[in-house]
Order: sequence, then structure tokens, then C-alpha cells
Amino acid sequence: MRIVFLGAPGVGKGTQADRIAAQFKIAKISTGDLLREAVRNQTELGREAKQYMDQGQLVPDAVVIGLVRVKLQEPASANGFVLDGFPRTVPQAEELGRVLQTAQRPLHRVVNFQVPREDVVRRLTGRRSCPKCQTTFHTEFAPSKTGNACDRCGETLVQRSDDTREAIETRLQVYEEQTAPLIQYYARKRLLSELDASGSVDAVFEALFGVLAPFSAI
Ligand code: AP5
Repeated sequence: MRIVFLGAPGVGKGTQADRIAAQFKIAKISTGDLLREAVRNQTELGREAKQYMDQGQLVPDAVVIGLVRVKLQEPASANGFVLDGFPRTVPQAEELGRVLQTAQRPLHRVVNFQVPREDVVRRLTGRRSCPKCQTTFHTEFAPSKTGNACDRCGETLVQRSDDTREAIETRLQVYEEQTAPLIQYYARKRLLSELDASGSVDAVFEALFGVLAPFSAI
């Protein structure tokens, strides 16, 4: 199964990508996660990316395309993958198409997550994550059982540096300008499925499972 999750920041792509990857035993490839790892490790790439990420701007296409290219070639992706947060521009989508065509591994589906803007802002401002094991929580919708510490490893939870009101506004604007055109791009290729992602995590997973299950035997 080879799929793409498309949608504005905070619609729940990462949360569902974790569950779908576990359910169908496929790799989760999140460019946001890969970039944050590079930032944590203070690599040259991470230092360059951080300037863009903190402001809510996109990291240059060449950088993220390079990261994804490597991940797609790893054995972990052989059984399939869910791309979370990639592609995000038309040039990224075109390059992905070329890479997958060369490998004779075309996409099966692109799922567009839809959530009202006010809910997205609420999800993003309440998000907390563990700096050690990267588990994601939400102060209201998925609170940690132990207050401000990670349920899995006990580390103190933090807010992402791009989850400030200002950066969220920029991210939503960047999404409208640079990423939303991909909805039409994939609709024209007859790969798009729309998903109402405004319900609970379990309800969204159930709907998503219904969309993807037909492709699981491919
Ligand atoms: P990235 O990490 O991809 O951020 P994003 O697209 O802004 O998406 P988010 O991670 O914010 O949201 P999500 O949809 O995954 O929601 P989540 O499941 O976490 O990218 C970060 C930055 O990296 C970019 O701004 C850019 O600079 C750079 N970058 C990344 N990819 C790039 C690319 N391809 N090209 C260029 N630059 C790139 O959920 C959010 C919160 O809501 C959580 O707290 C969660 O618990 C909660 N929640 C989830 N589902 C529900 C639900 N159903 N009900 C209630 N709460 C929910």
C-alpha cells in the first residue's frame, strides 16, 4: 500500500499515519519528523531547516525531496508507505511521481483530510509532544495521564516551536498558497479521496480504514 496524506497543518495526519502504519505494517515517512530529527541532531541540514520551520515557511524542495528519496529506498518501505506531509508543493509531487514511476511503484491513494479552520487552530495550540520519544498529546483531546509528563517515558512534555499563534497563521497561509493546489493535482489523476477528519481520533481512523482497506491486498 502506497499512500499520501494531504491536509492543512493540525488536521491529524501524523496521528492517523502512526495508526495506519501499524495497522497495515507499512512505513510512516513524515518529512516534518525527519526535519525535526535533523534539527535535534544539529546537523547542517537541521540548522538550515530550523530557520524556515520556526517561521512556518516551507523548507526548500530540494532538501525534502532528498530526504524522501532516501527513505523510499530503505527496506522498511518495501511493503509500502504512508507519506505524511509530503508532497507539499507541485514540484515535490512531480518529483515523487517521477521517482515512483521509475521504481514501478505508483501511488494507490491520496487522502485529503478536511477539518474546519477553528478546530485546526485548537488542535495545534493544544498539542504537546515528548522531546525524548516524540509521542504526541493534546491538552484537551488526548491529555497525558500524568499531567505534564509523557505517559510512555516520563519526560516533560513541550510545545512545538512552530505551534505559536503567529507561526500557525503563516503555516495555514502557506498551506493555502502552496499545498492546496495538490488537491486538484491528484483529483485530476483520479487518486484523491476526501476525508471528514473533524471527528474523534477513533472515528477518523474508522473512516480512513474504510477508504484504505480495499488497497491493503495489493
Ligand atoms: P509537519 O510536521 O508536517 O507539520 P504540519 O503539516 O504543519 O502538520 P502537523 O504535524 O502540525 O499536524 P498533523 O496534521 O500531523 O496533526 P497531528 O496528528 O500532529 O511540518 C512542520 C514543518 O516542517 C513545516 O511547517 C515545514 O517548515 C517543514 N516541512 C515538513 N514537510 C515539508 C515539505 N514536504 N516541504 C517543505 N517543508 C516541509 O495532530 C495535531 C494535534 O491534534 C495533536 O495534539 C493531536 O493529539 C490532536 N488530534 C489529532 N487528531 C485529532 C482528532 N481527531 N480530534 C482531536 N484532536 C486530534
